[in-house]
Amino acid sequence: MAAVPAAPPRPIQIAPSVLPADFAKLGEECRALEEAGVDRIQWDVMDGRFVPNLTFGPDVIAACRPHVSVPFEAHLMVQQPEELLDRYVEAGCQLLIVHAESTGHLHRCLGQVREAGARAAVALNPATPVSAVEHVLDLVEMVLVMTVNPGFGGQAYLASMEPKVAEVRRLIDERGLDVDVEVDGGISPSTVSGATAAGANVLVAGSALYRDPEGLAHAVAELRALAEAAQRGSAAA
Ligand code: DX5
Repeated sequence: MAAVPAAPPRPIQIAPSVLPADFAKLGEECRALEEAGVDRIQWDVMDGRFVPNLTFGPDVIAACRPHVSVPFEAHLMVQQPEELLDRYVEAGCQLLIVHAESTGHLHRCLGQVREAGARAAVALNPATPVSAVEHVLDLVEMVLVMTVNPGFGGQAYLASMEPKVAEVRRLIDERGLDVDVEVDGGISPSTVSGATAAGANVLVAGSALYRDPEGLAHAVAELRALAEAAQRGSAAA
């Protein structure tokens, strides 16, 4: 296999999941995350069909949009995401993440996201191979490799996904594409280095941020510092 020229490391981004937040005051919680220095906010949209859990839709996201200026991304854990794409863009989401397993027409769906005026991303459940997104990498700005089976926060990190993260990163770099790699699920101070060294640069974290006794700002800064150190380490290797 020809050596892939090392692409410059991509900026580390911290994208909190609001799943552990207090749903009774989501606007305030968004402000607290923004003040804690996050780079974007991820909304875990669950429909009770694609995943065995139900969270929130575009109206809740729209209600929180005026409270902060950080970008919003909607992680669409829903069947047939095509049905409501425009609503998430109207609600103020700059990036929509579509699961490869959630639609029979992934290429068309990602095109519809872009036509709706948002940036497109594609997500892979743990069992789904990288080949499922090989033919849509030119349509997306990010690939999300799930490091838990989607549907709940607070689950254990699947380190077995790190070779998949590396494979996605290599495929992107091989083609010279400007595409981020995101990981989501079980990201914490004890797991973030492995995920980043494998090639992830956008890090979703939920419970690890909210359970830090020193608060959100400390948790965000610690994750960022560990990730940047791991990125430097793997670049030097
Ligand atoms: C799970 C969601 C994740 C989850 C992350 O389906 O996609 O965003 O909320 O939570 P932690 O970091 O607690 O695993």
